[in-house]
Amino acid sequence: MSANTSERRALMLREMGLTPQWRAREASGATMPSPVPPMIAVPVVVPDAPEGVDGVSPLPSGDSERRAAIMQMDWPQLKACVADCTQCGLHARRNKTVFGVGDENADWLFVGEGPGADEDAQGEPFVGQAGKLLDAMLAAIQLKRGANVYIANMVKCRPPGNRNPEVGEARACEPFLHRQIDLIQPKLIIALGKVAATYLLAREASVASLRNKIHRYRGIPLIVTYHPAYLLRSLQEKARAWEDLCFAVDTLQGLKNTGGETI
Ligand code: URA
Repeated sequence: MSANTSERRALMLREMGLTPQWRAREASGATMPSPVPPMIAVPVVVPDAPEGVDGVSPLPSGDSERRAAIMQMDWPQLKACVADCTQCGLHARRNKTVFGVGDENADWLFVGEGPGADEDAQGEPFVGQAGKLLDAMLAAIQLKRGANVYIANMVKCRPPGNRNPEVGEARACEPFLHRQIDLIQPKLIIALGKVAATYLLAREASVASLRNKIHRYRGIPLIVTYHPAYLLRSLQEKARAWEDLCFAVDTLQGLKNTGGETI
């Protein structure tokens, strides 16, 4: 491992709160899984999933006019439209809509599933415990919320009791995410967790089977990793998430080096 790689590894482990666990395992002599991904991304390119196939029902939008109108909106119009939205049942119990936050010209777009209680109260995504871990994950790759990073969710209103968003809710909200993506034009999308990955890729599959590959969403490279809330409960997957972040960094670097042509 080169000095640079080893420094980067140490920094990431520290930022993600992994160092004590790592040392404990080394000290105990336990066989460690090899957590160090190659620093050069070897892209496994998965063909672009057509929207609305492969296990997830197509947009029941029916409302192509609504979608077309959303796709013409600028940021202020889009924000106002989300704030007033009553398209699905989630609006009835929300306190605040959670539009998304960050750099509107970001290279990086992180997409979660939907607001929890803290986000519903504050109107900003990932501000609770999971959000703190997401911020640490960003710091591990020298990123921070708001600087070259945009954070959004599949659905903009809190599903009651933190249940997963239903298909109809996700599909009703999806035009908002599409417009956000078209306005931001990120270079890389990170799907956080199985729910976001399932809706974005229109394919029901485990995070384990989707990670470490380059997918595409609306033509943009997309990488799947574990949801921060899940990582809070699973230290083992935290190490894998770190691998995913390295993979993402290298993928984005590769995209920049090649003008996106090899991916
Ligand atoms: N979980 C999510 O998926 N999104 C949030 O904004 C907060 C928690």
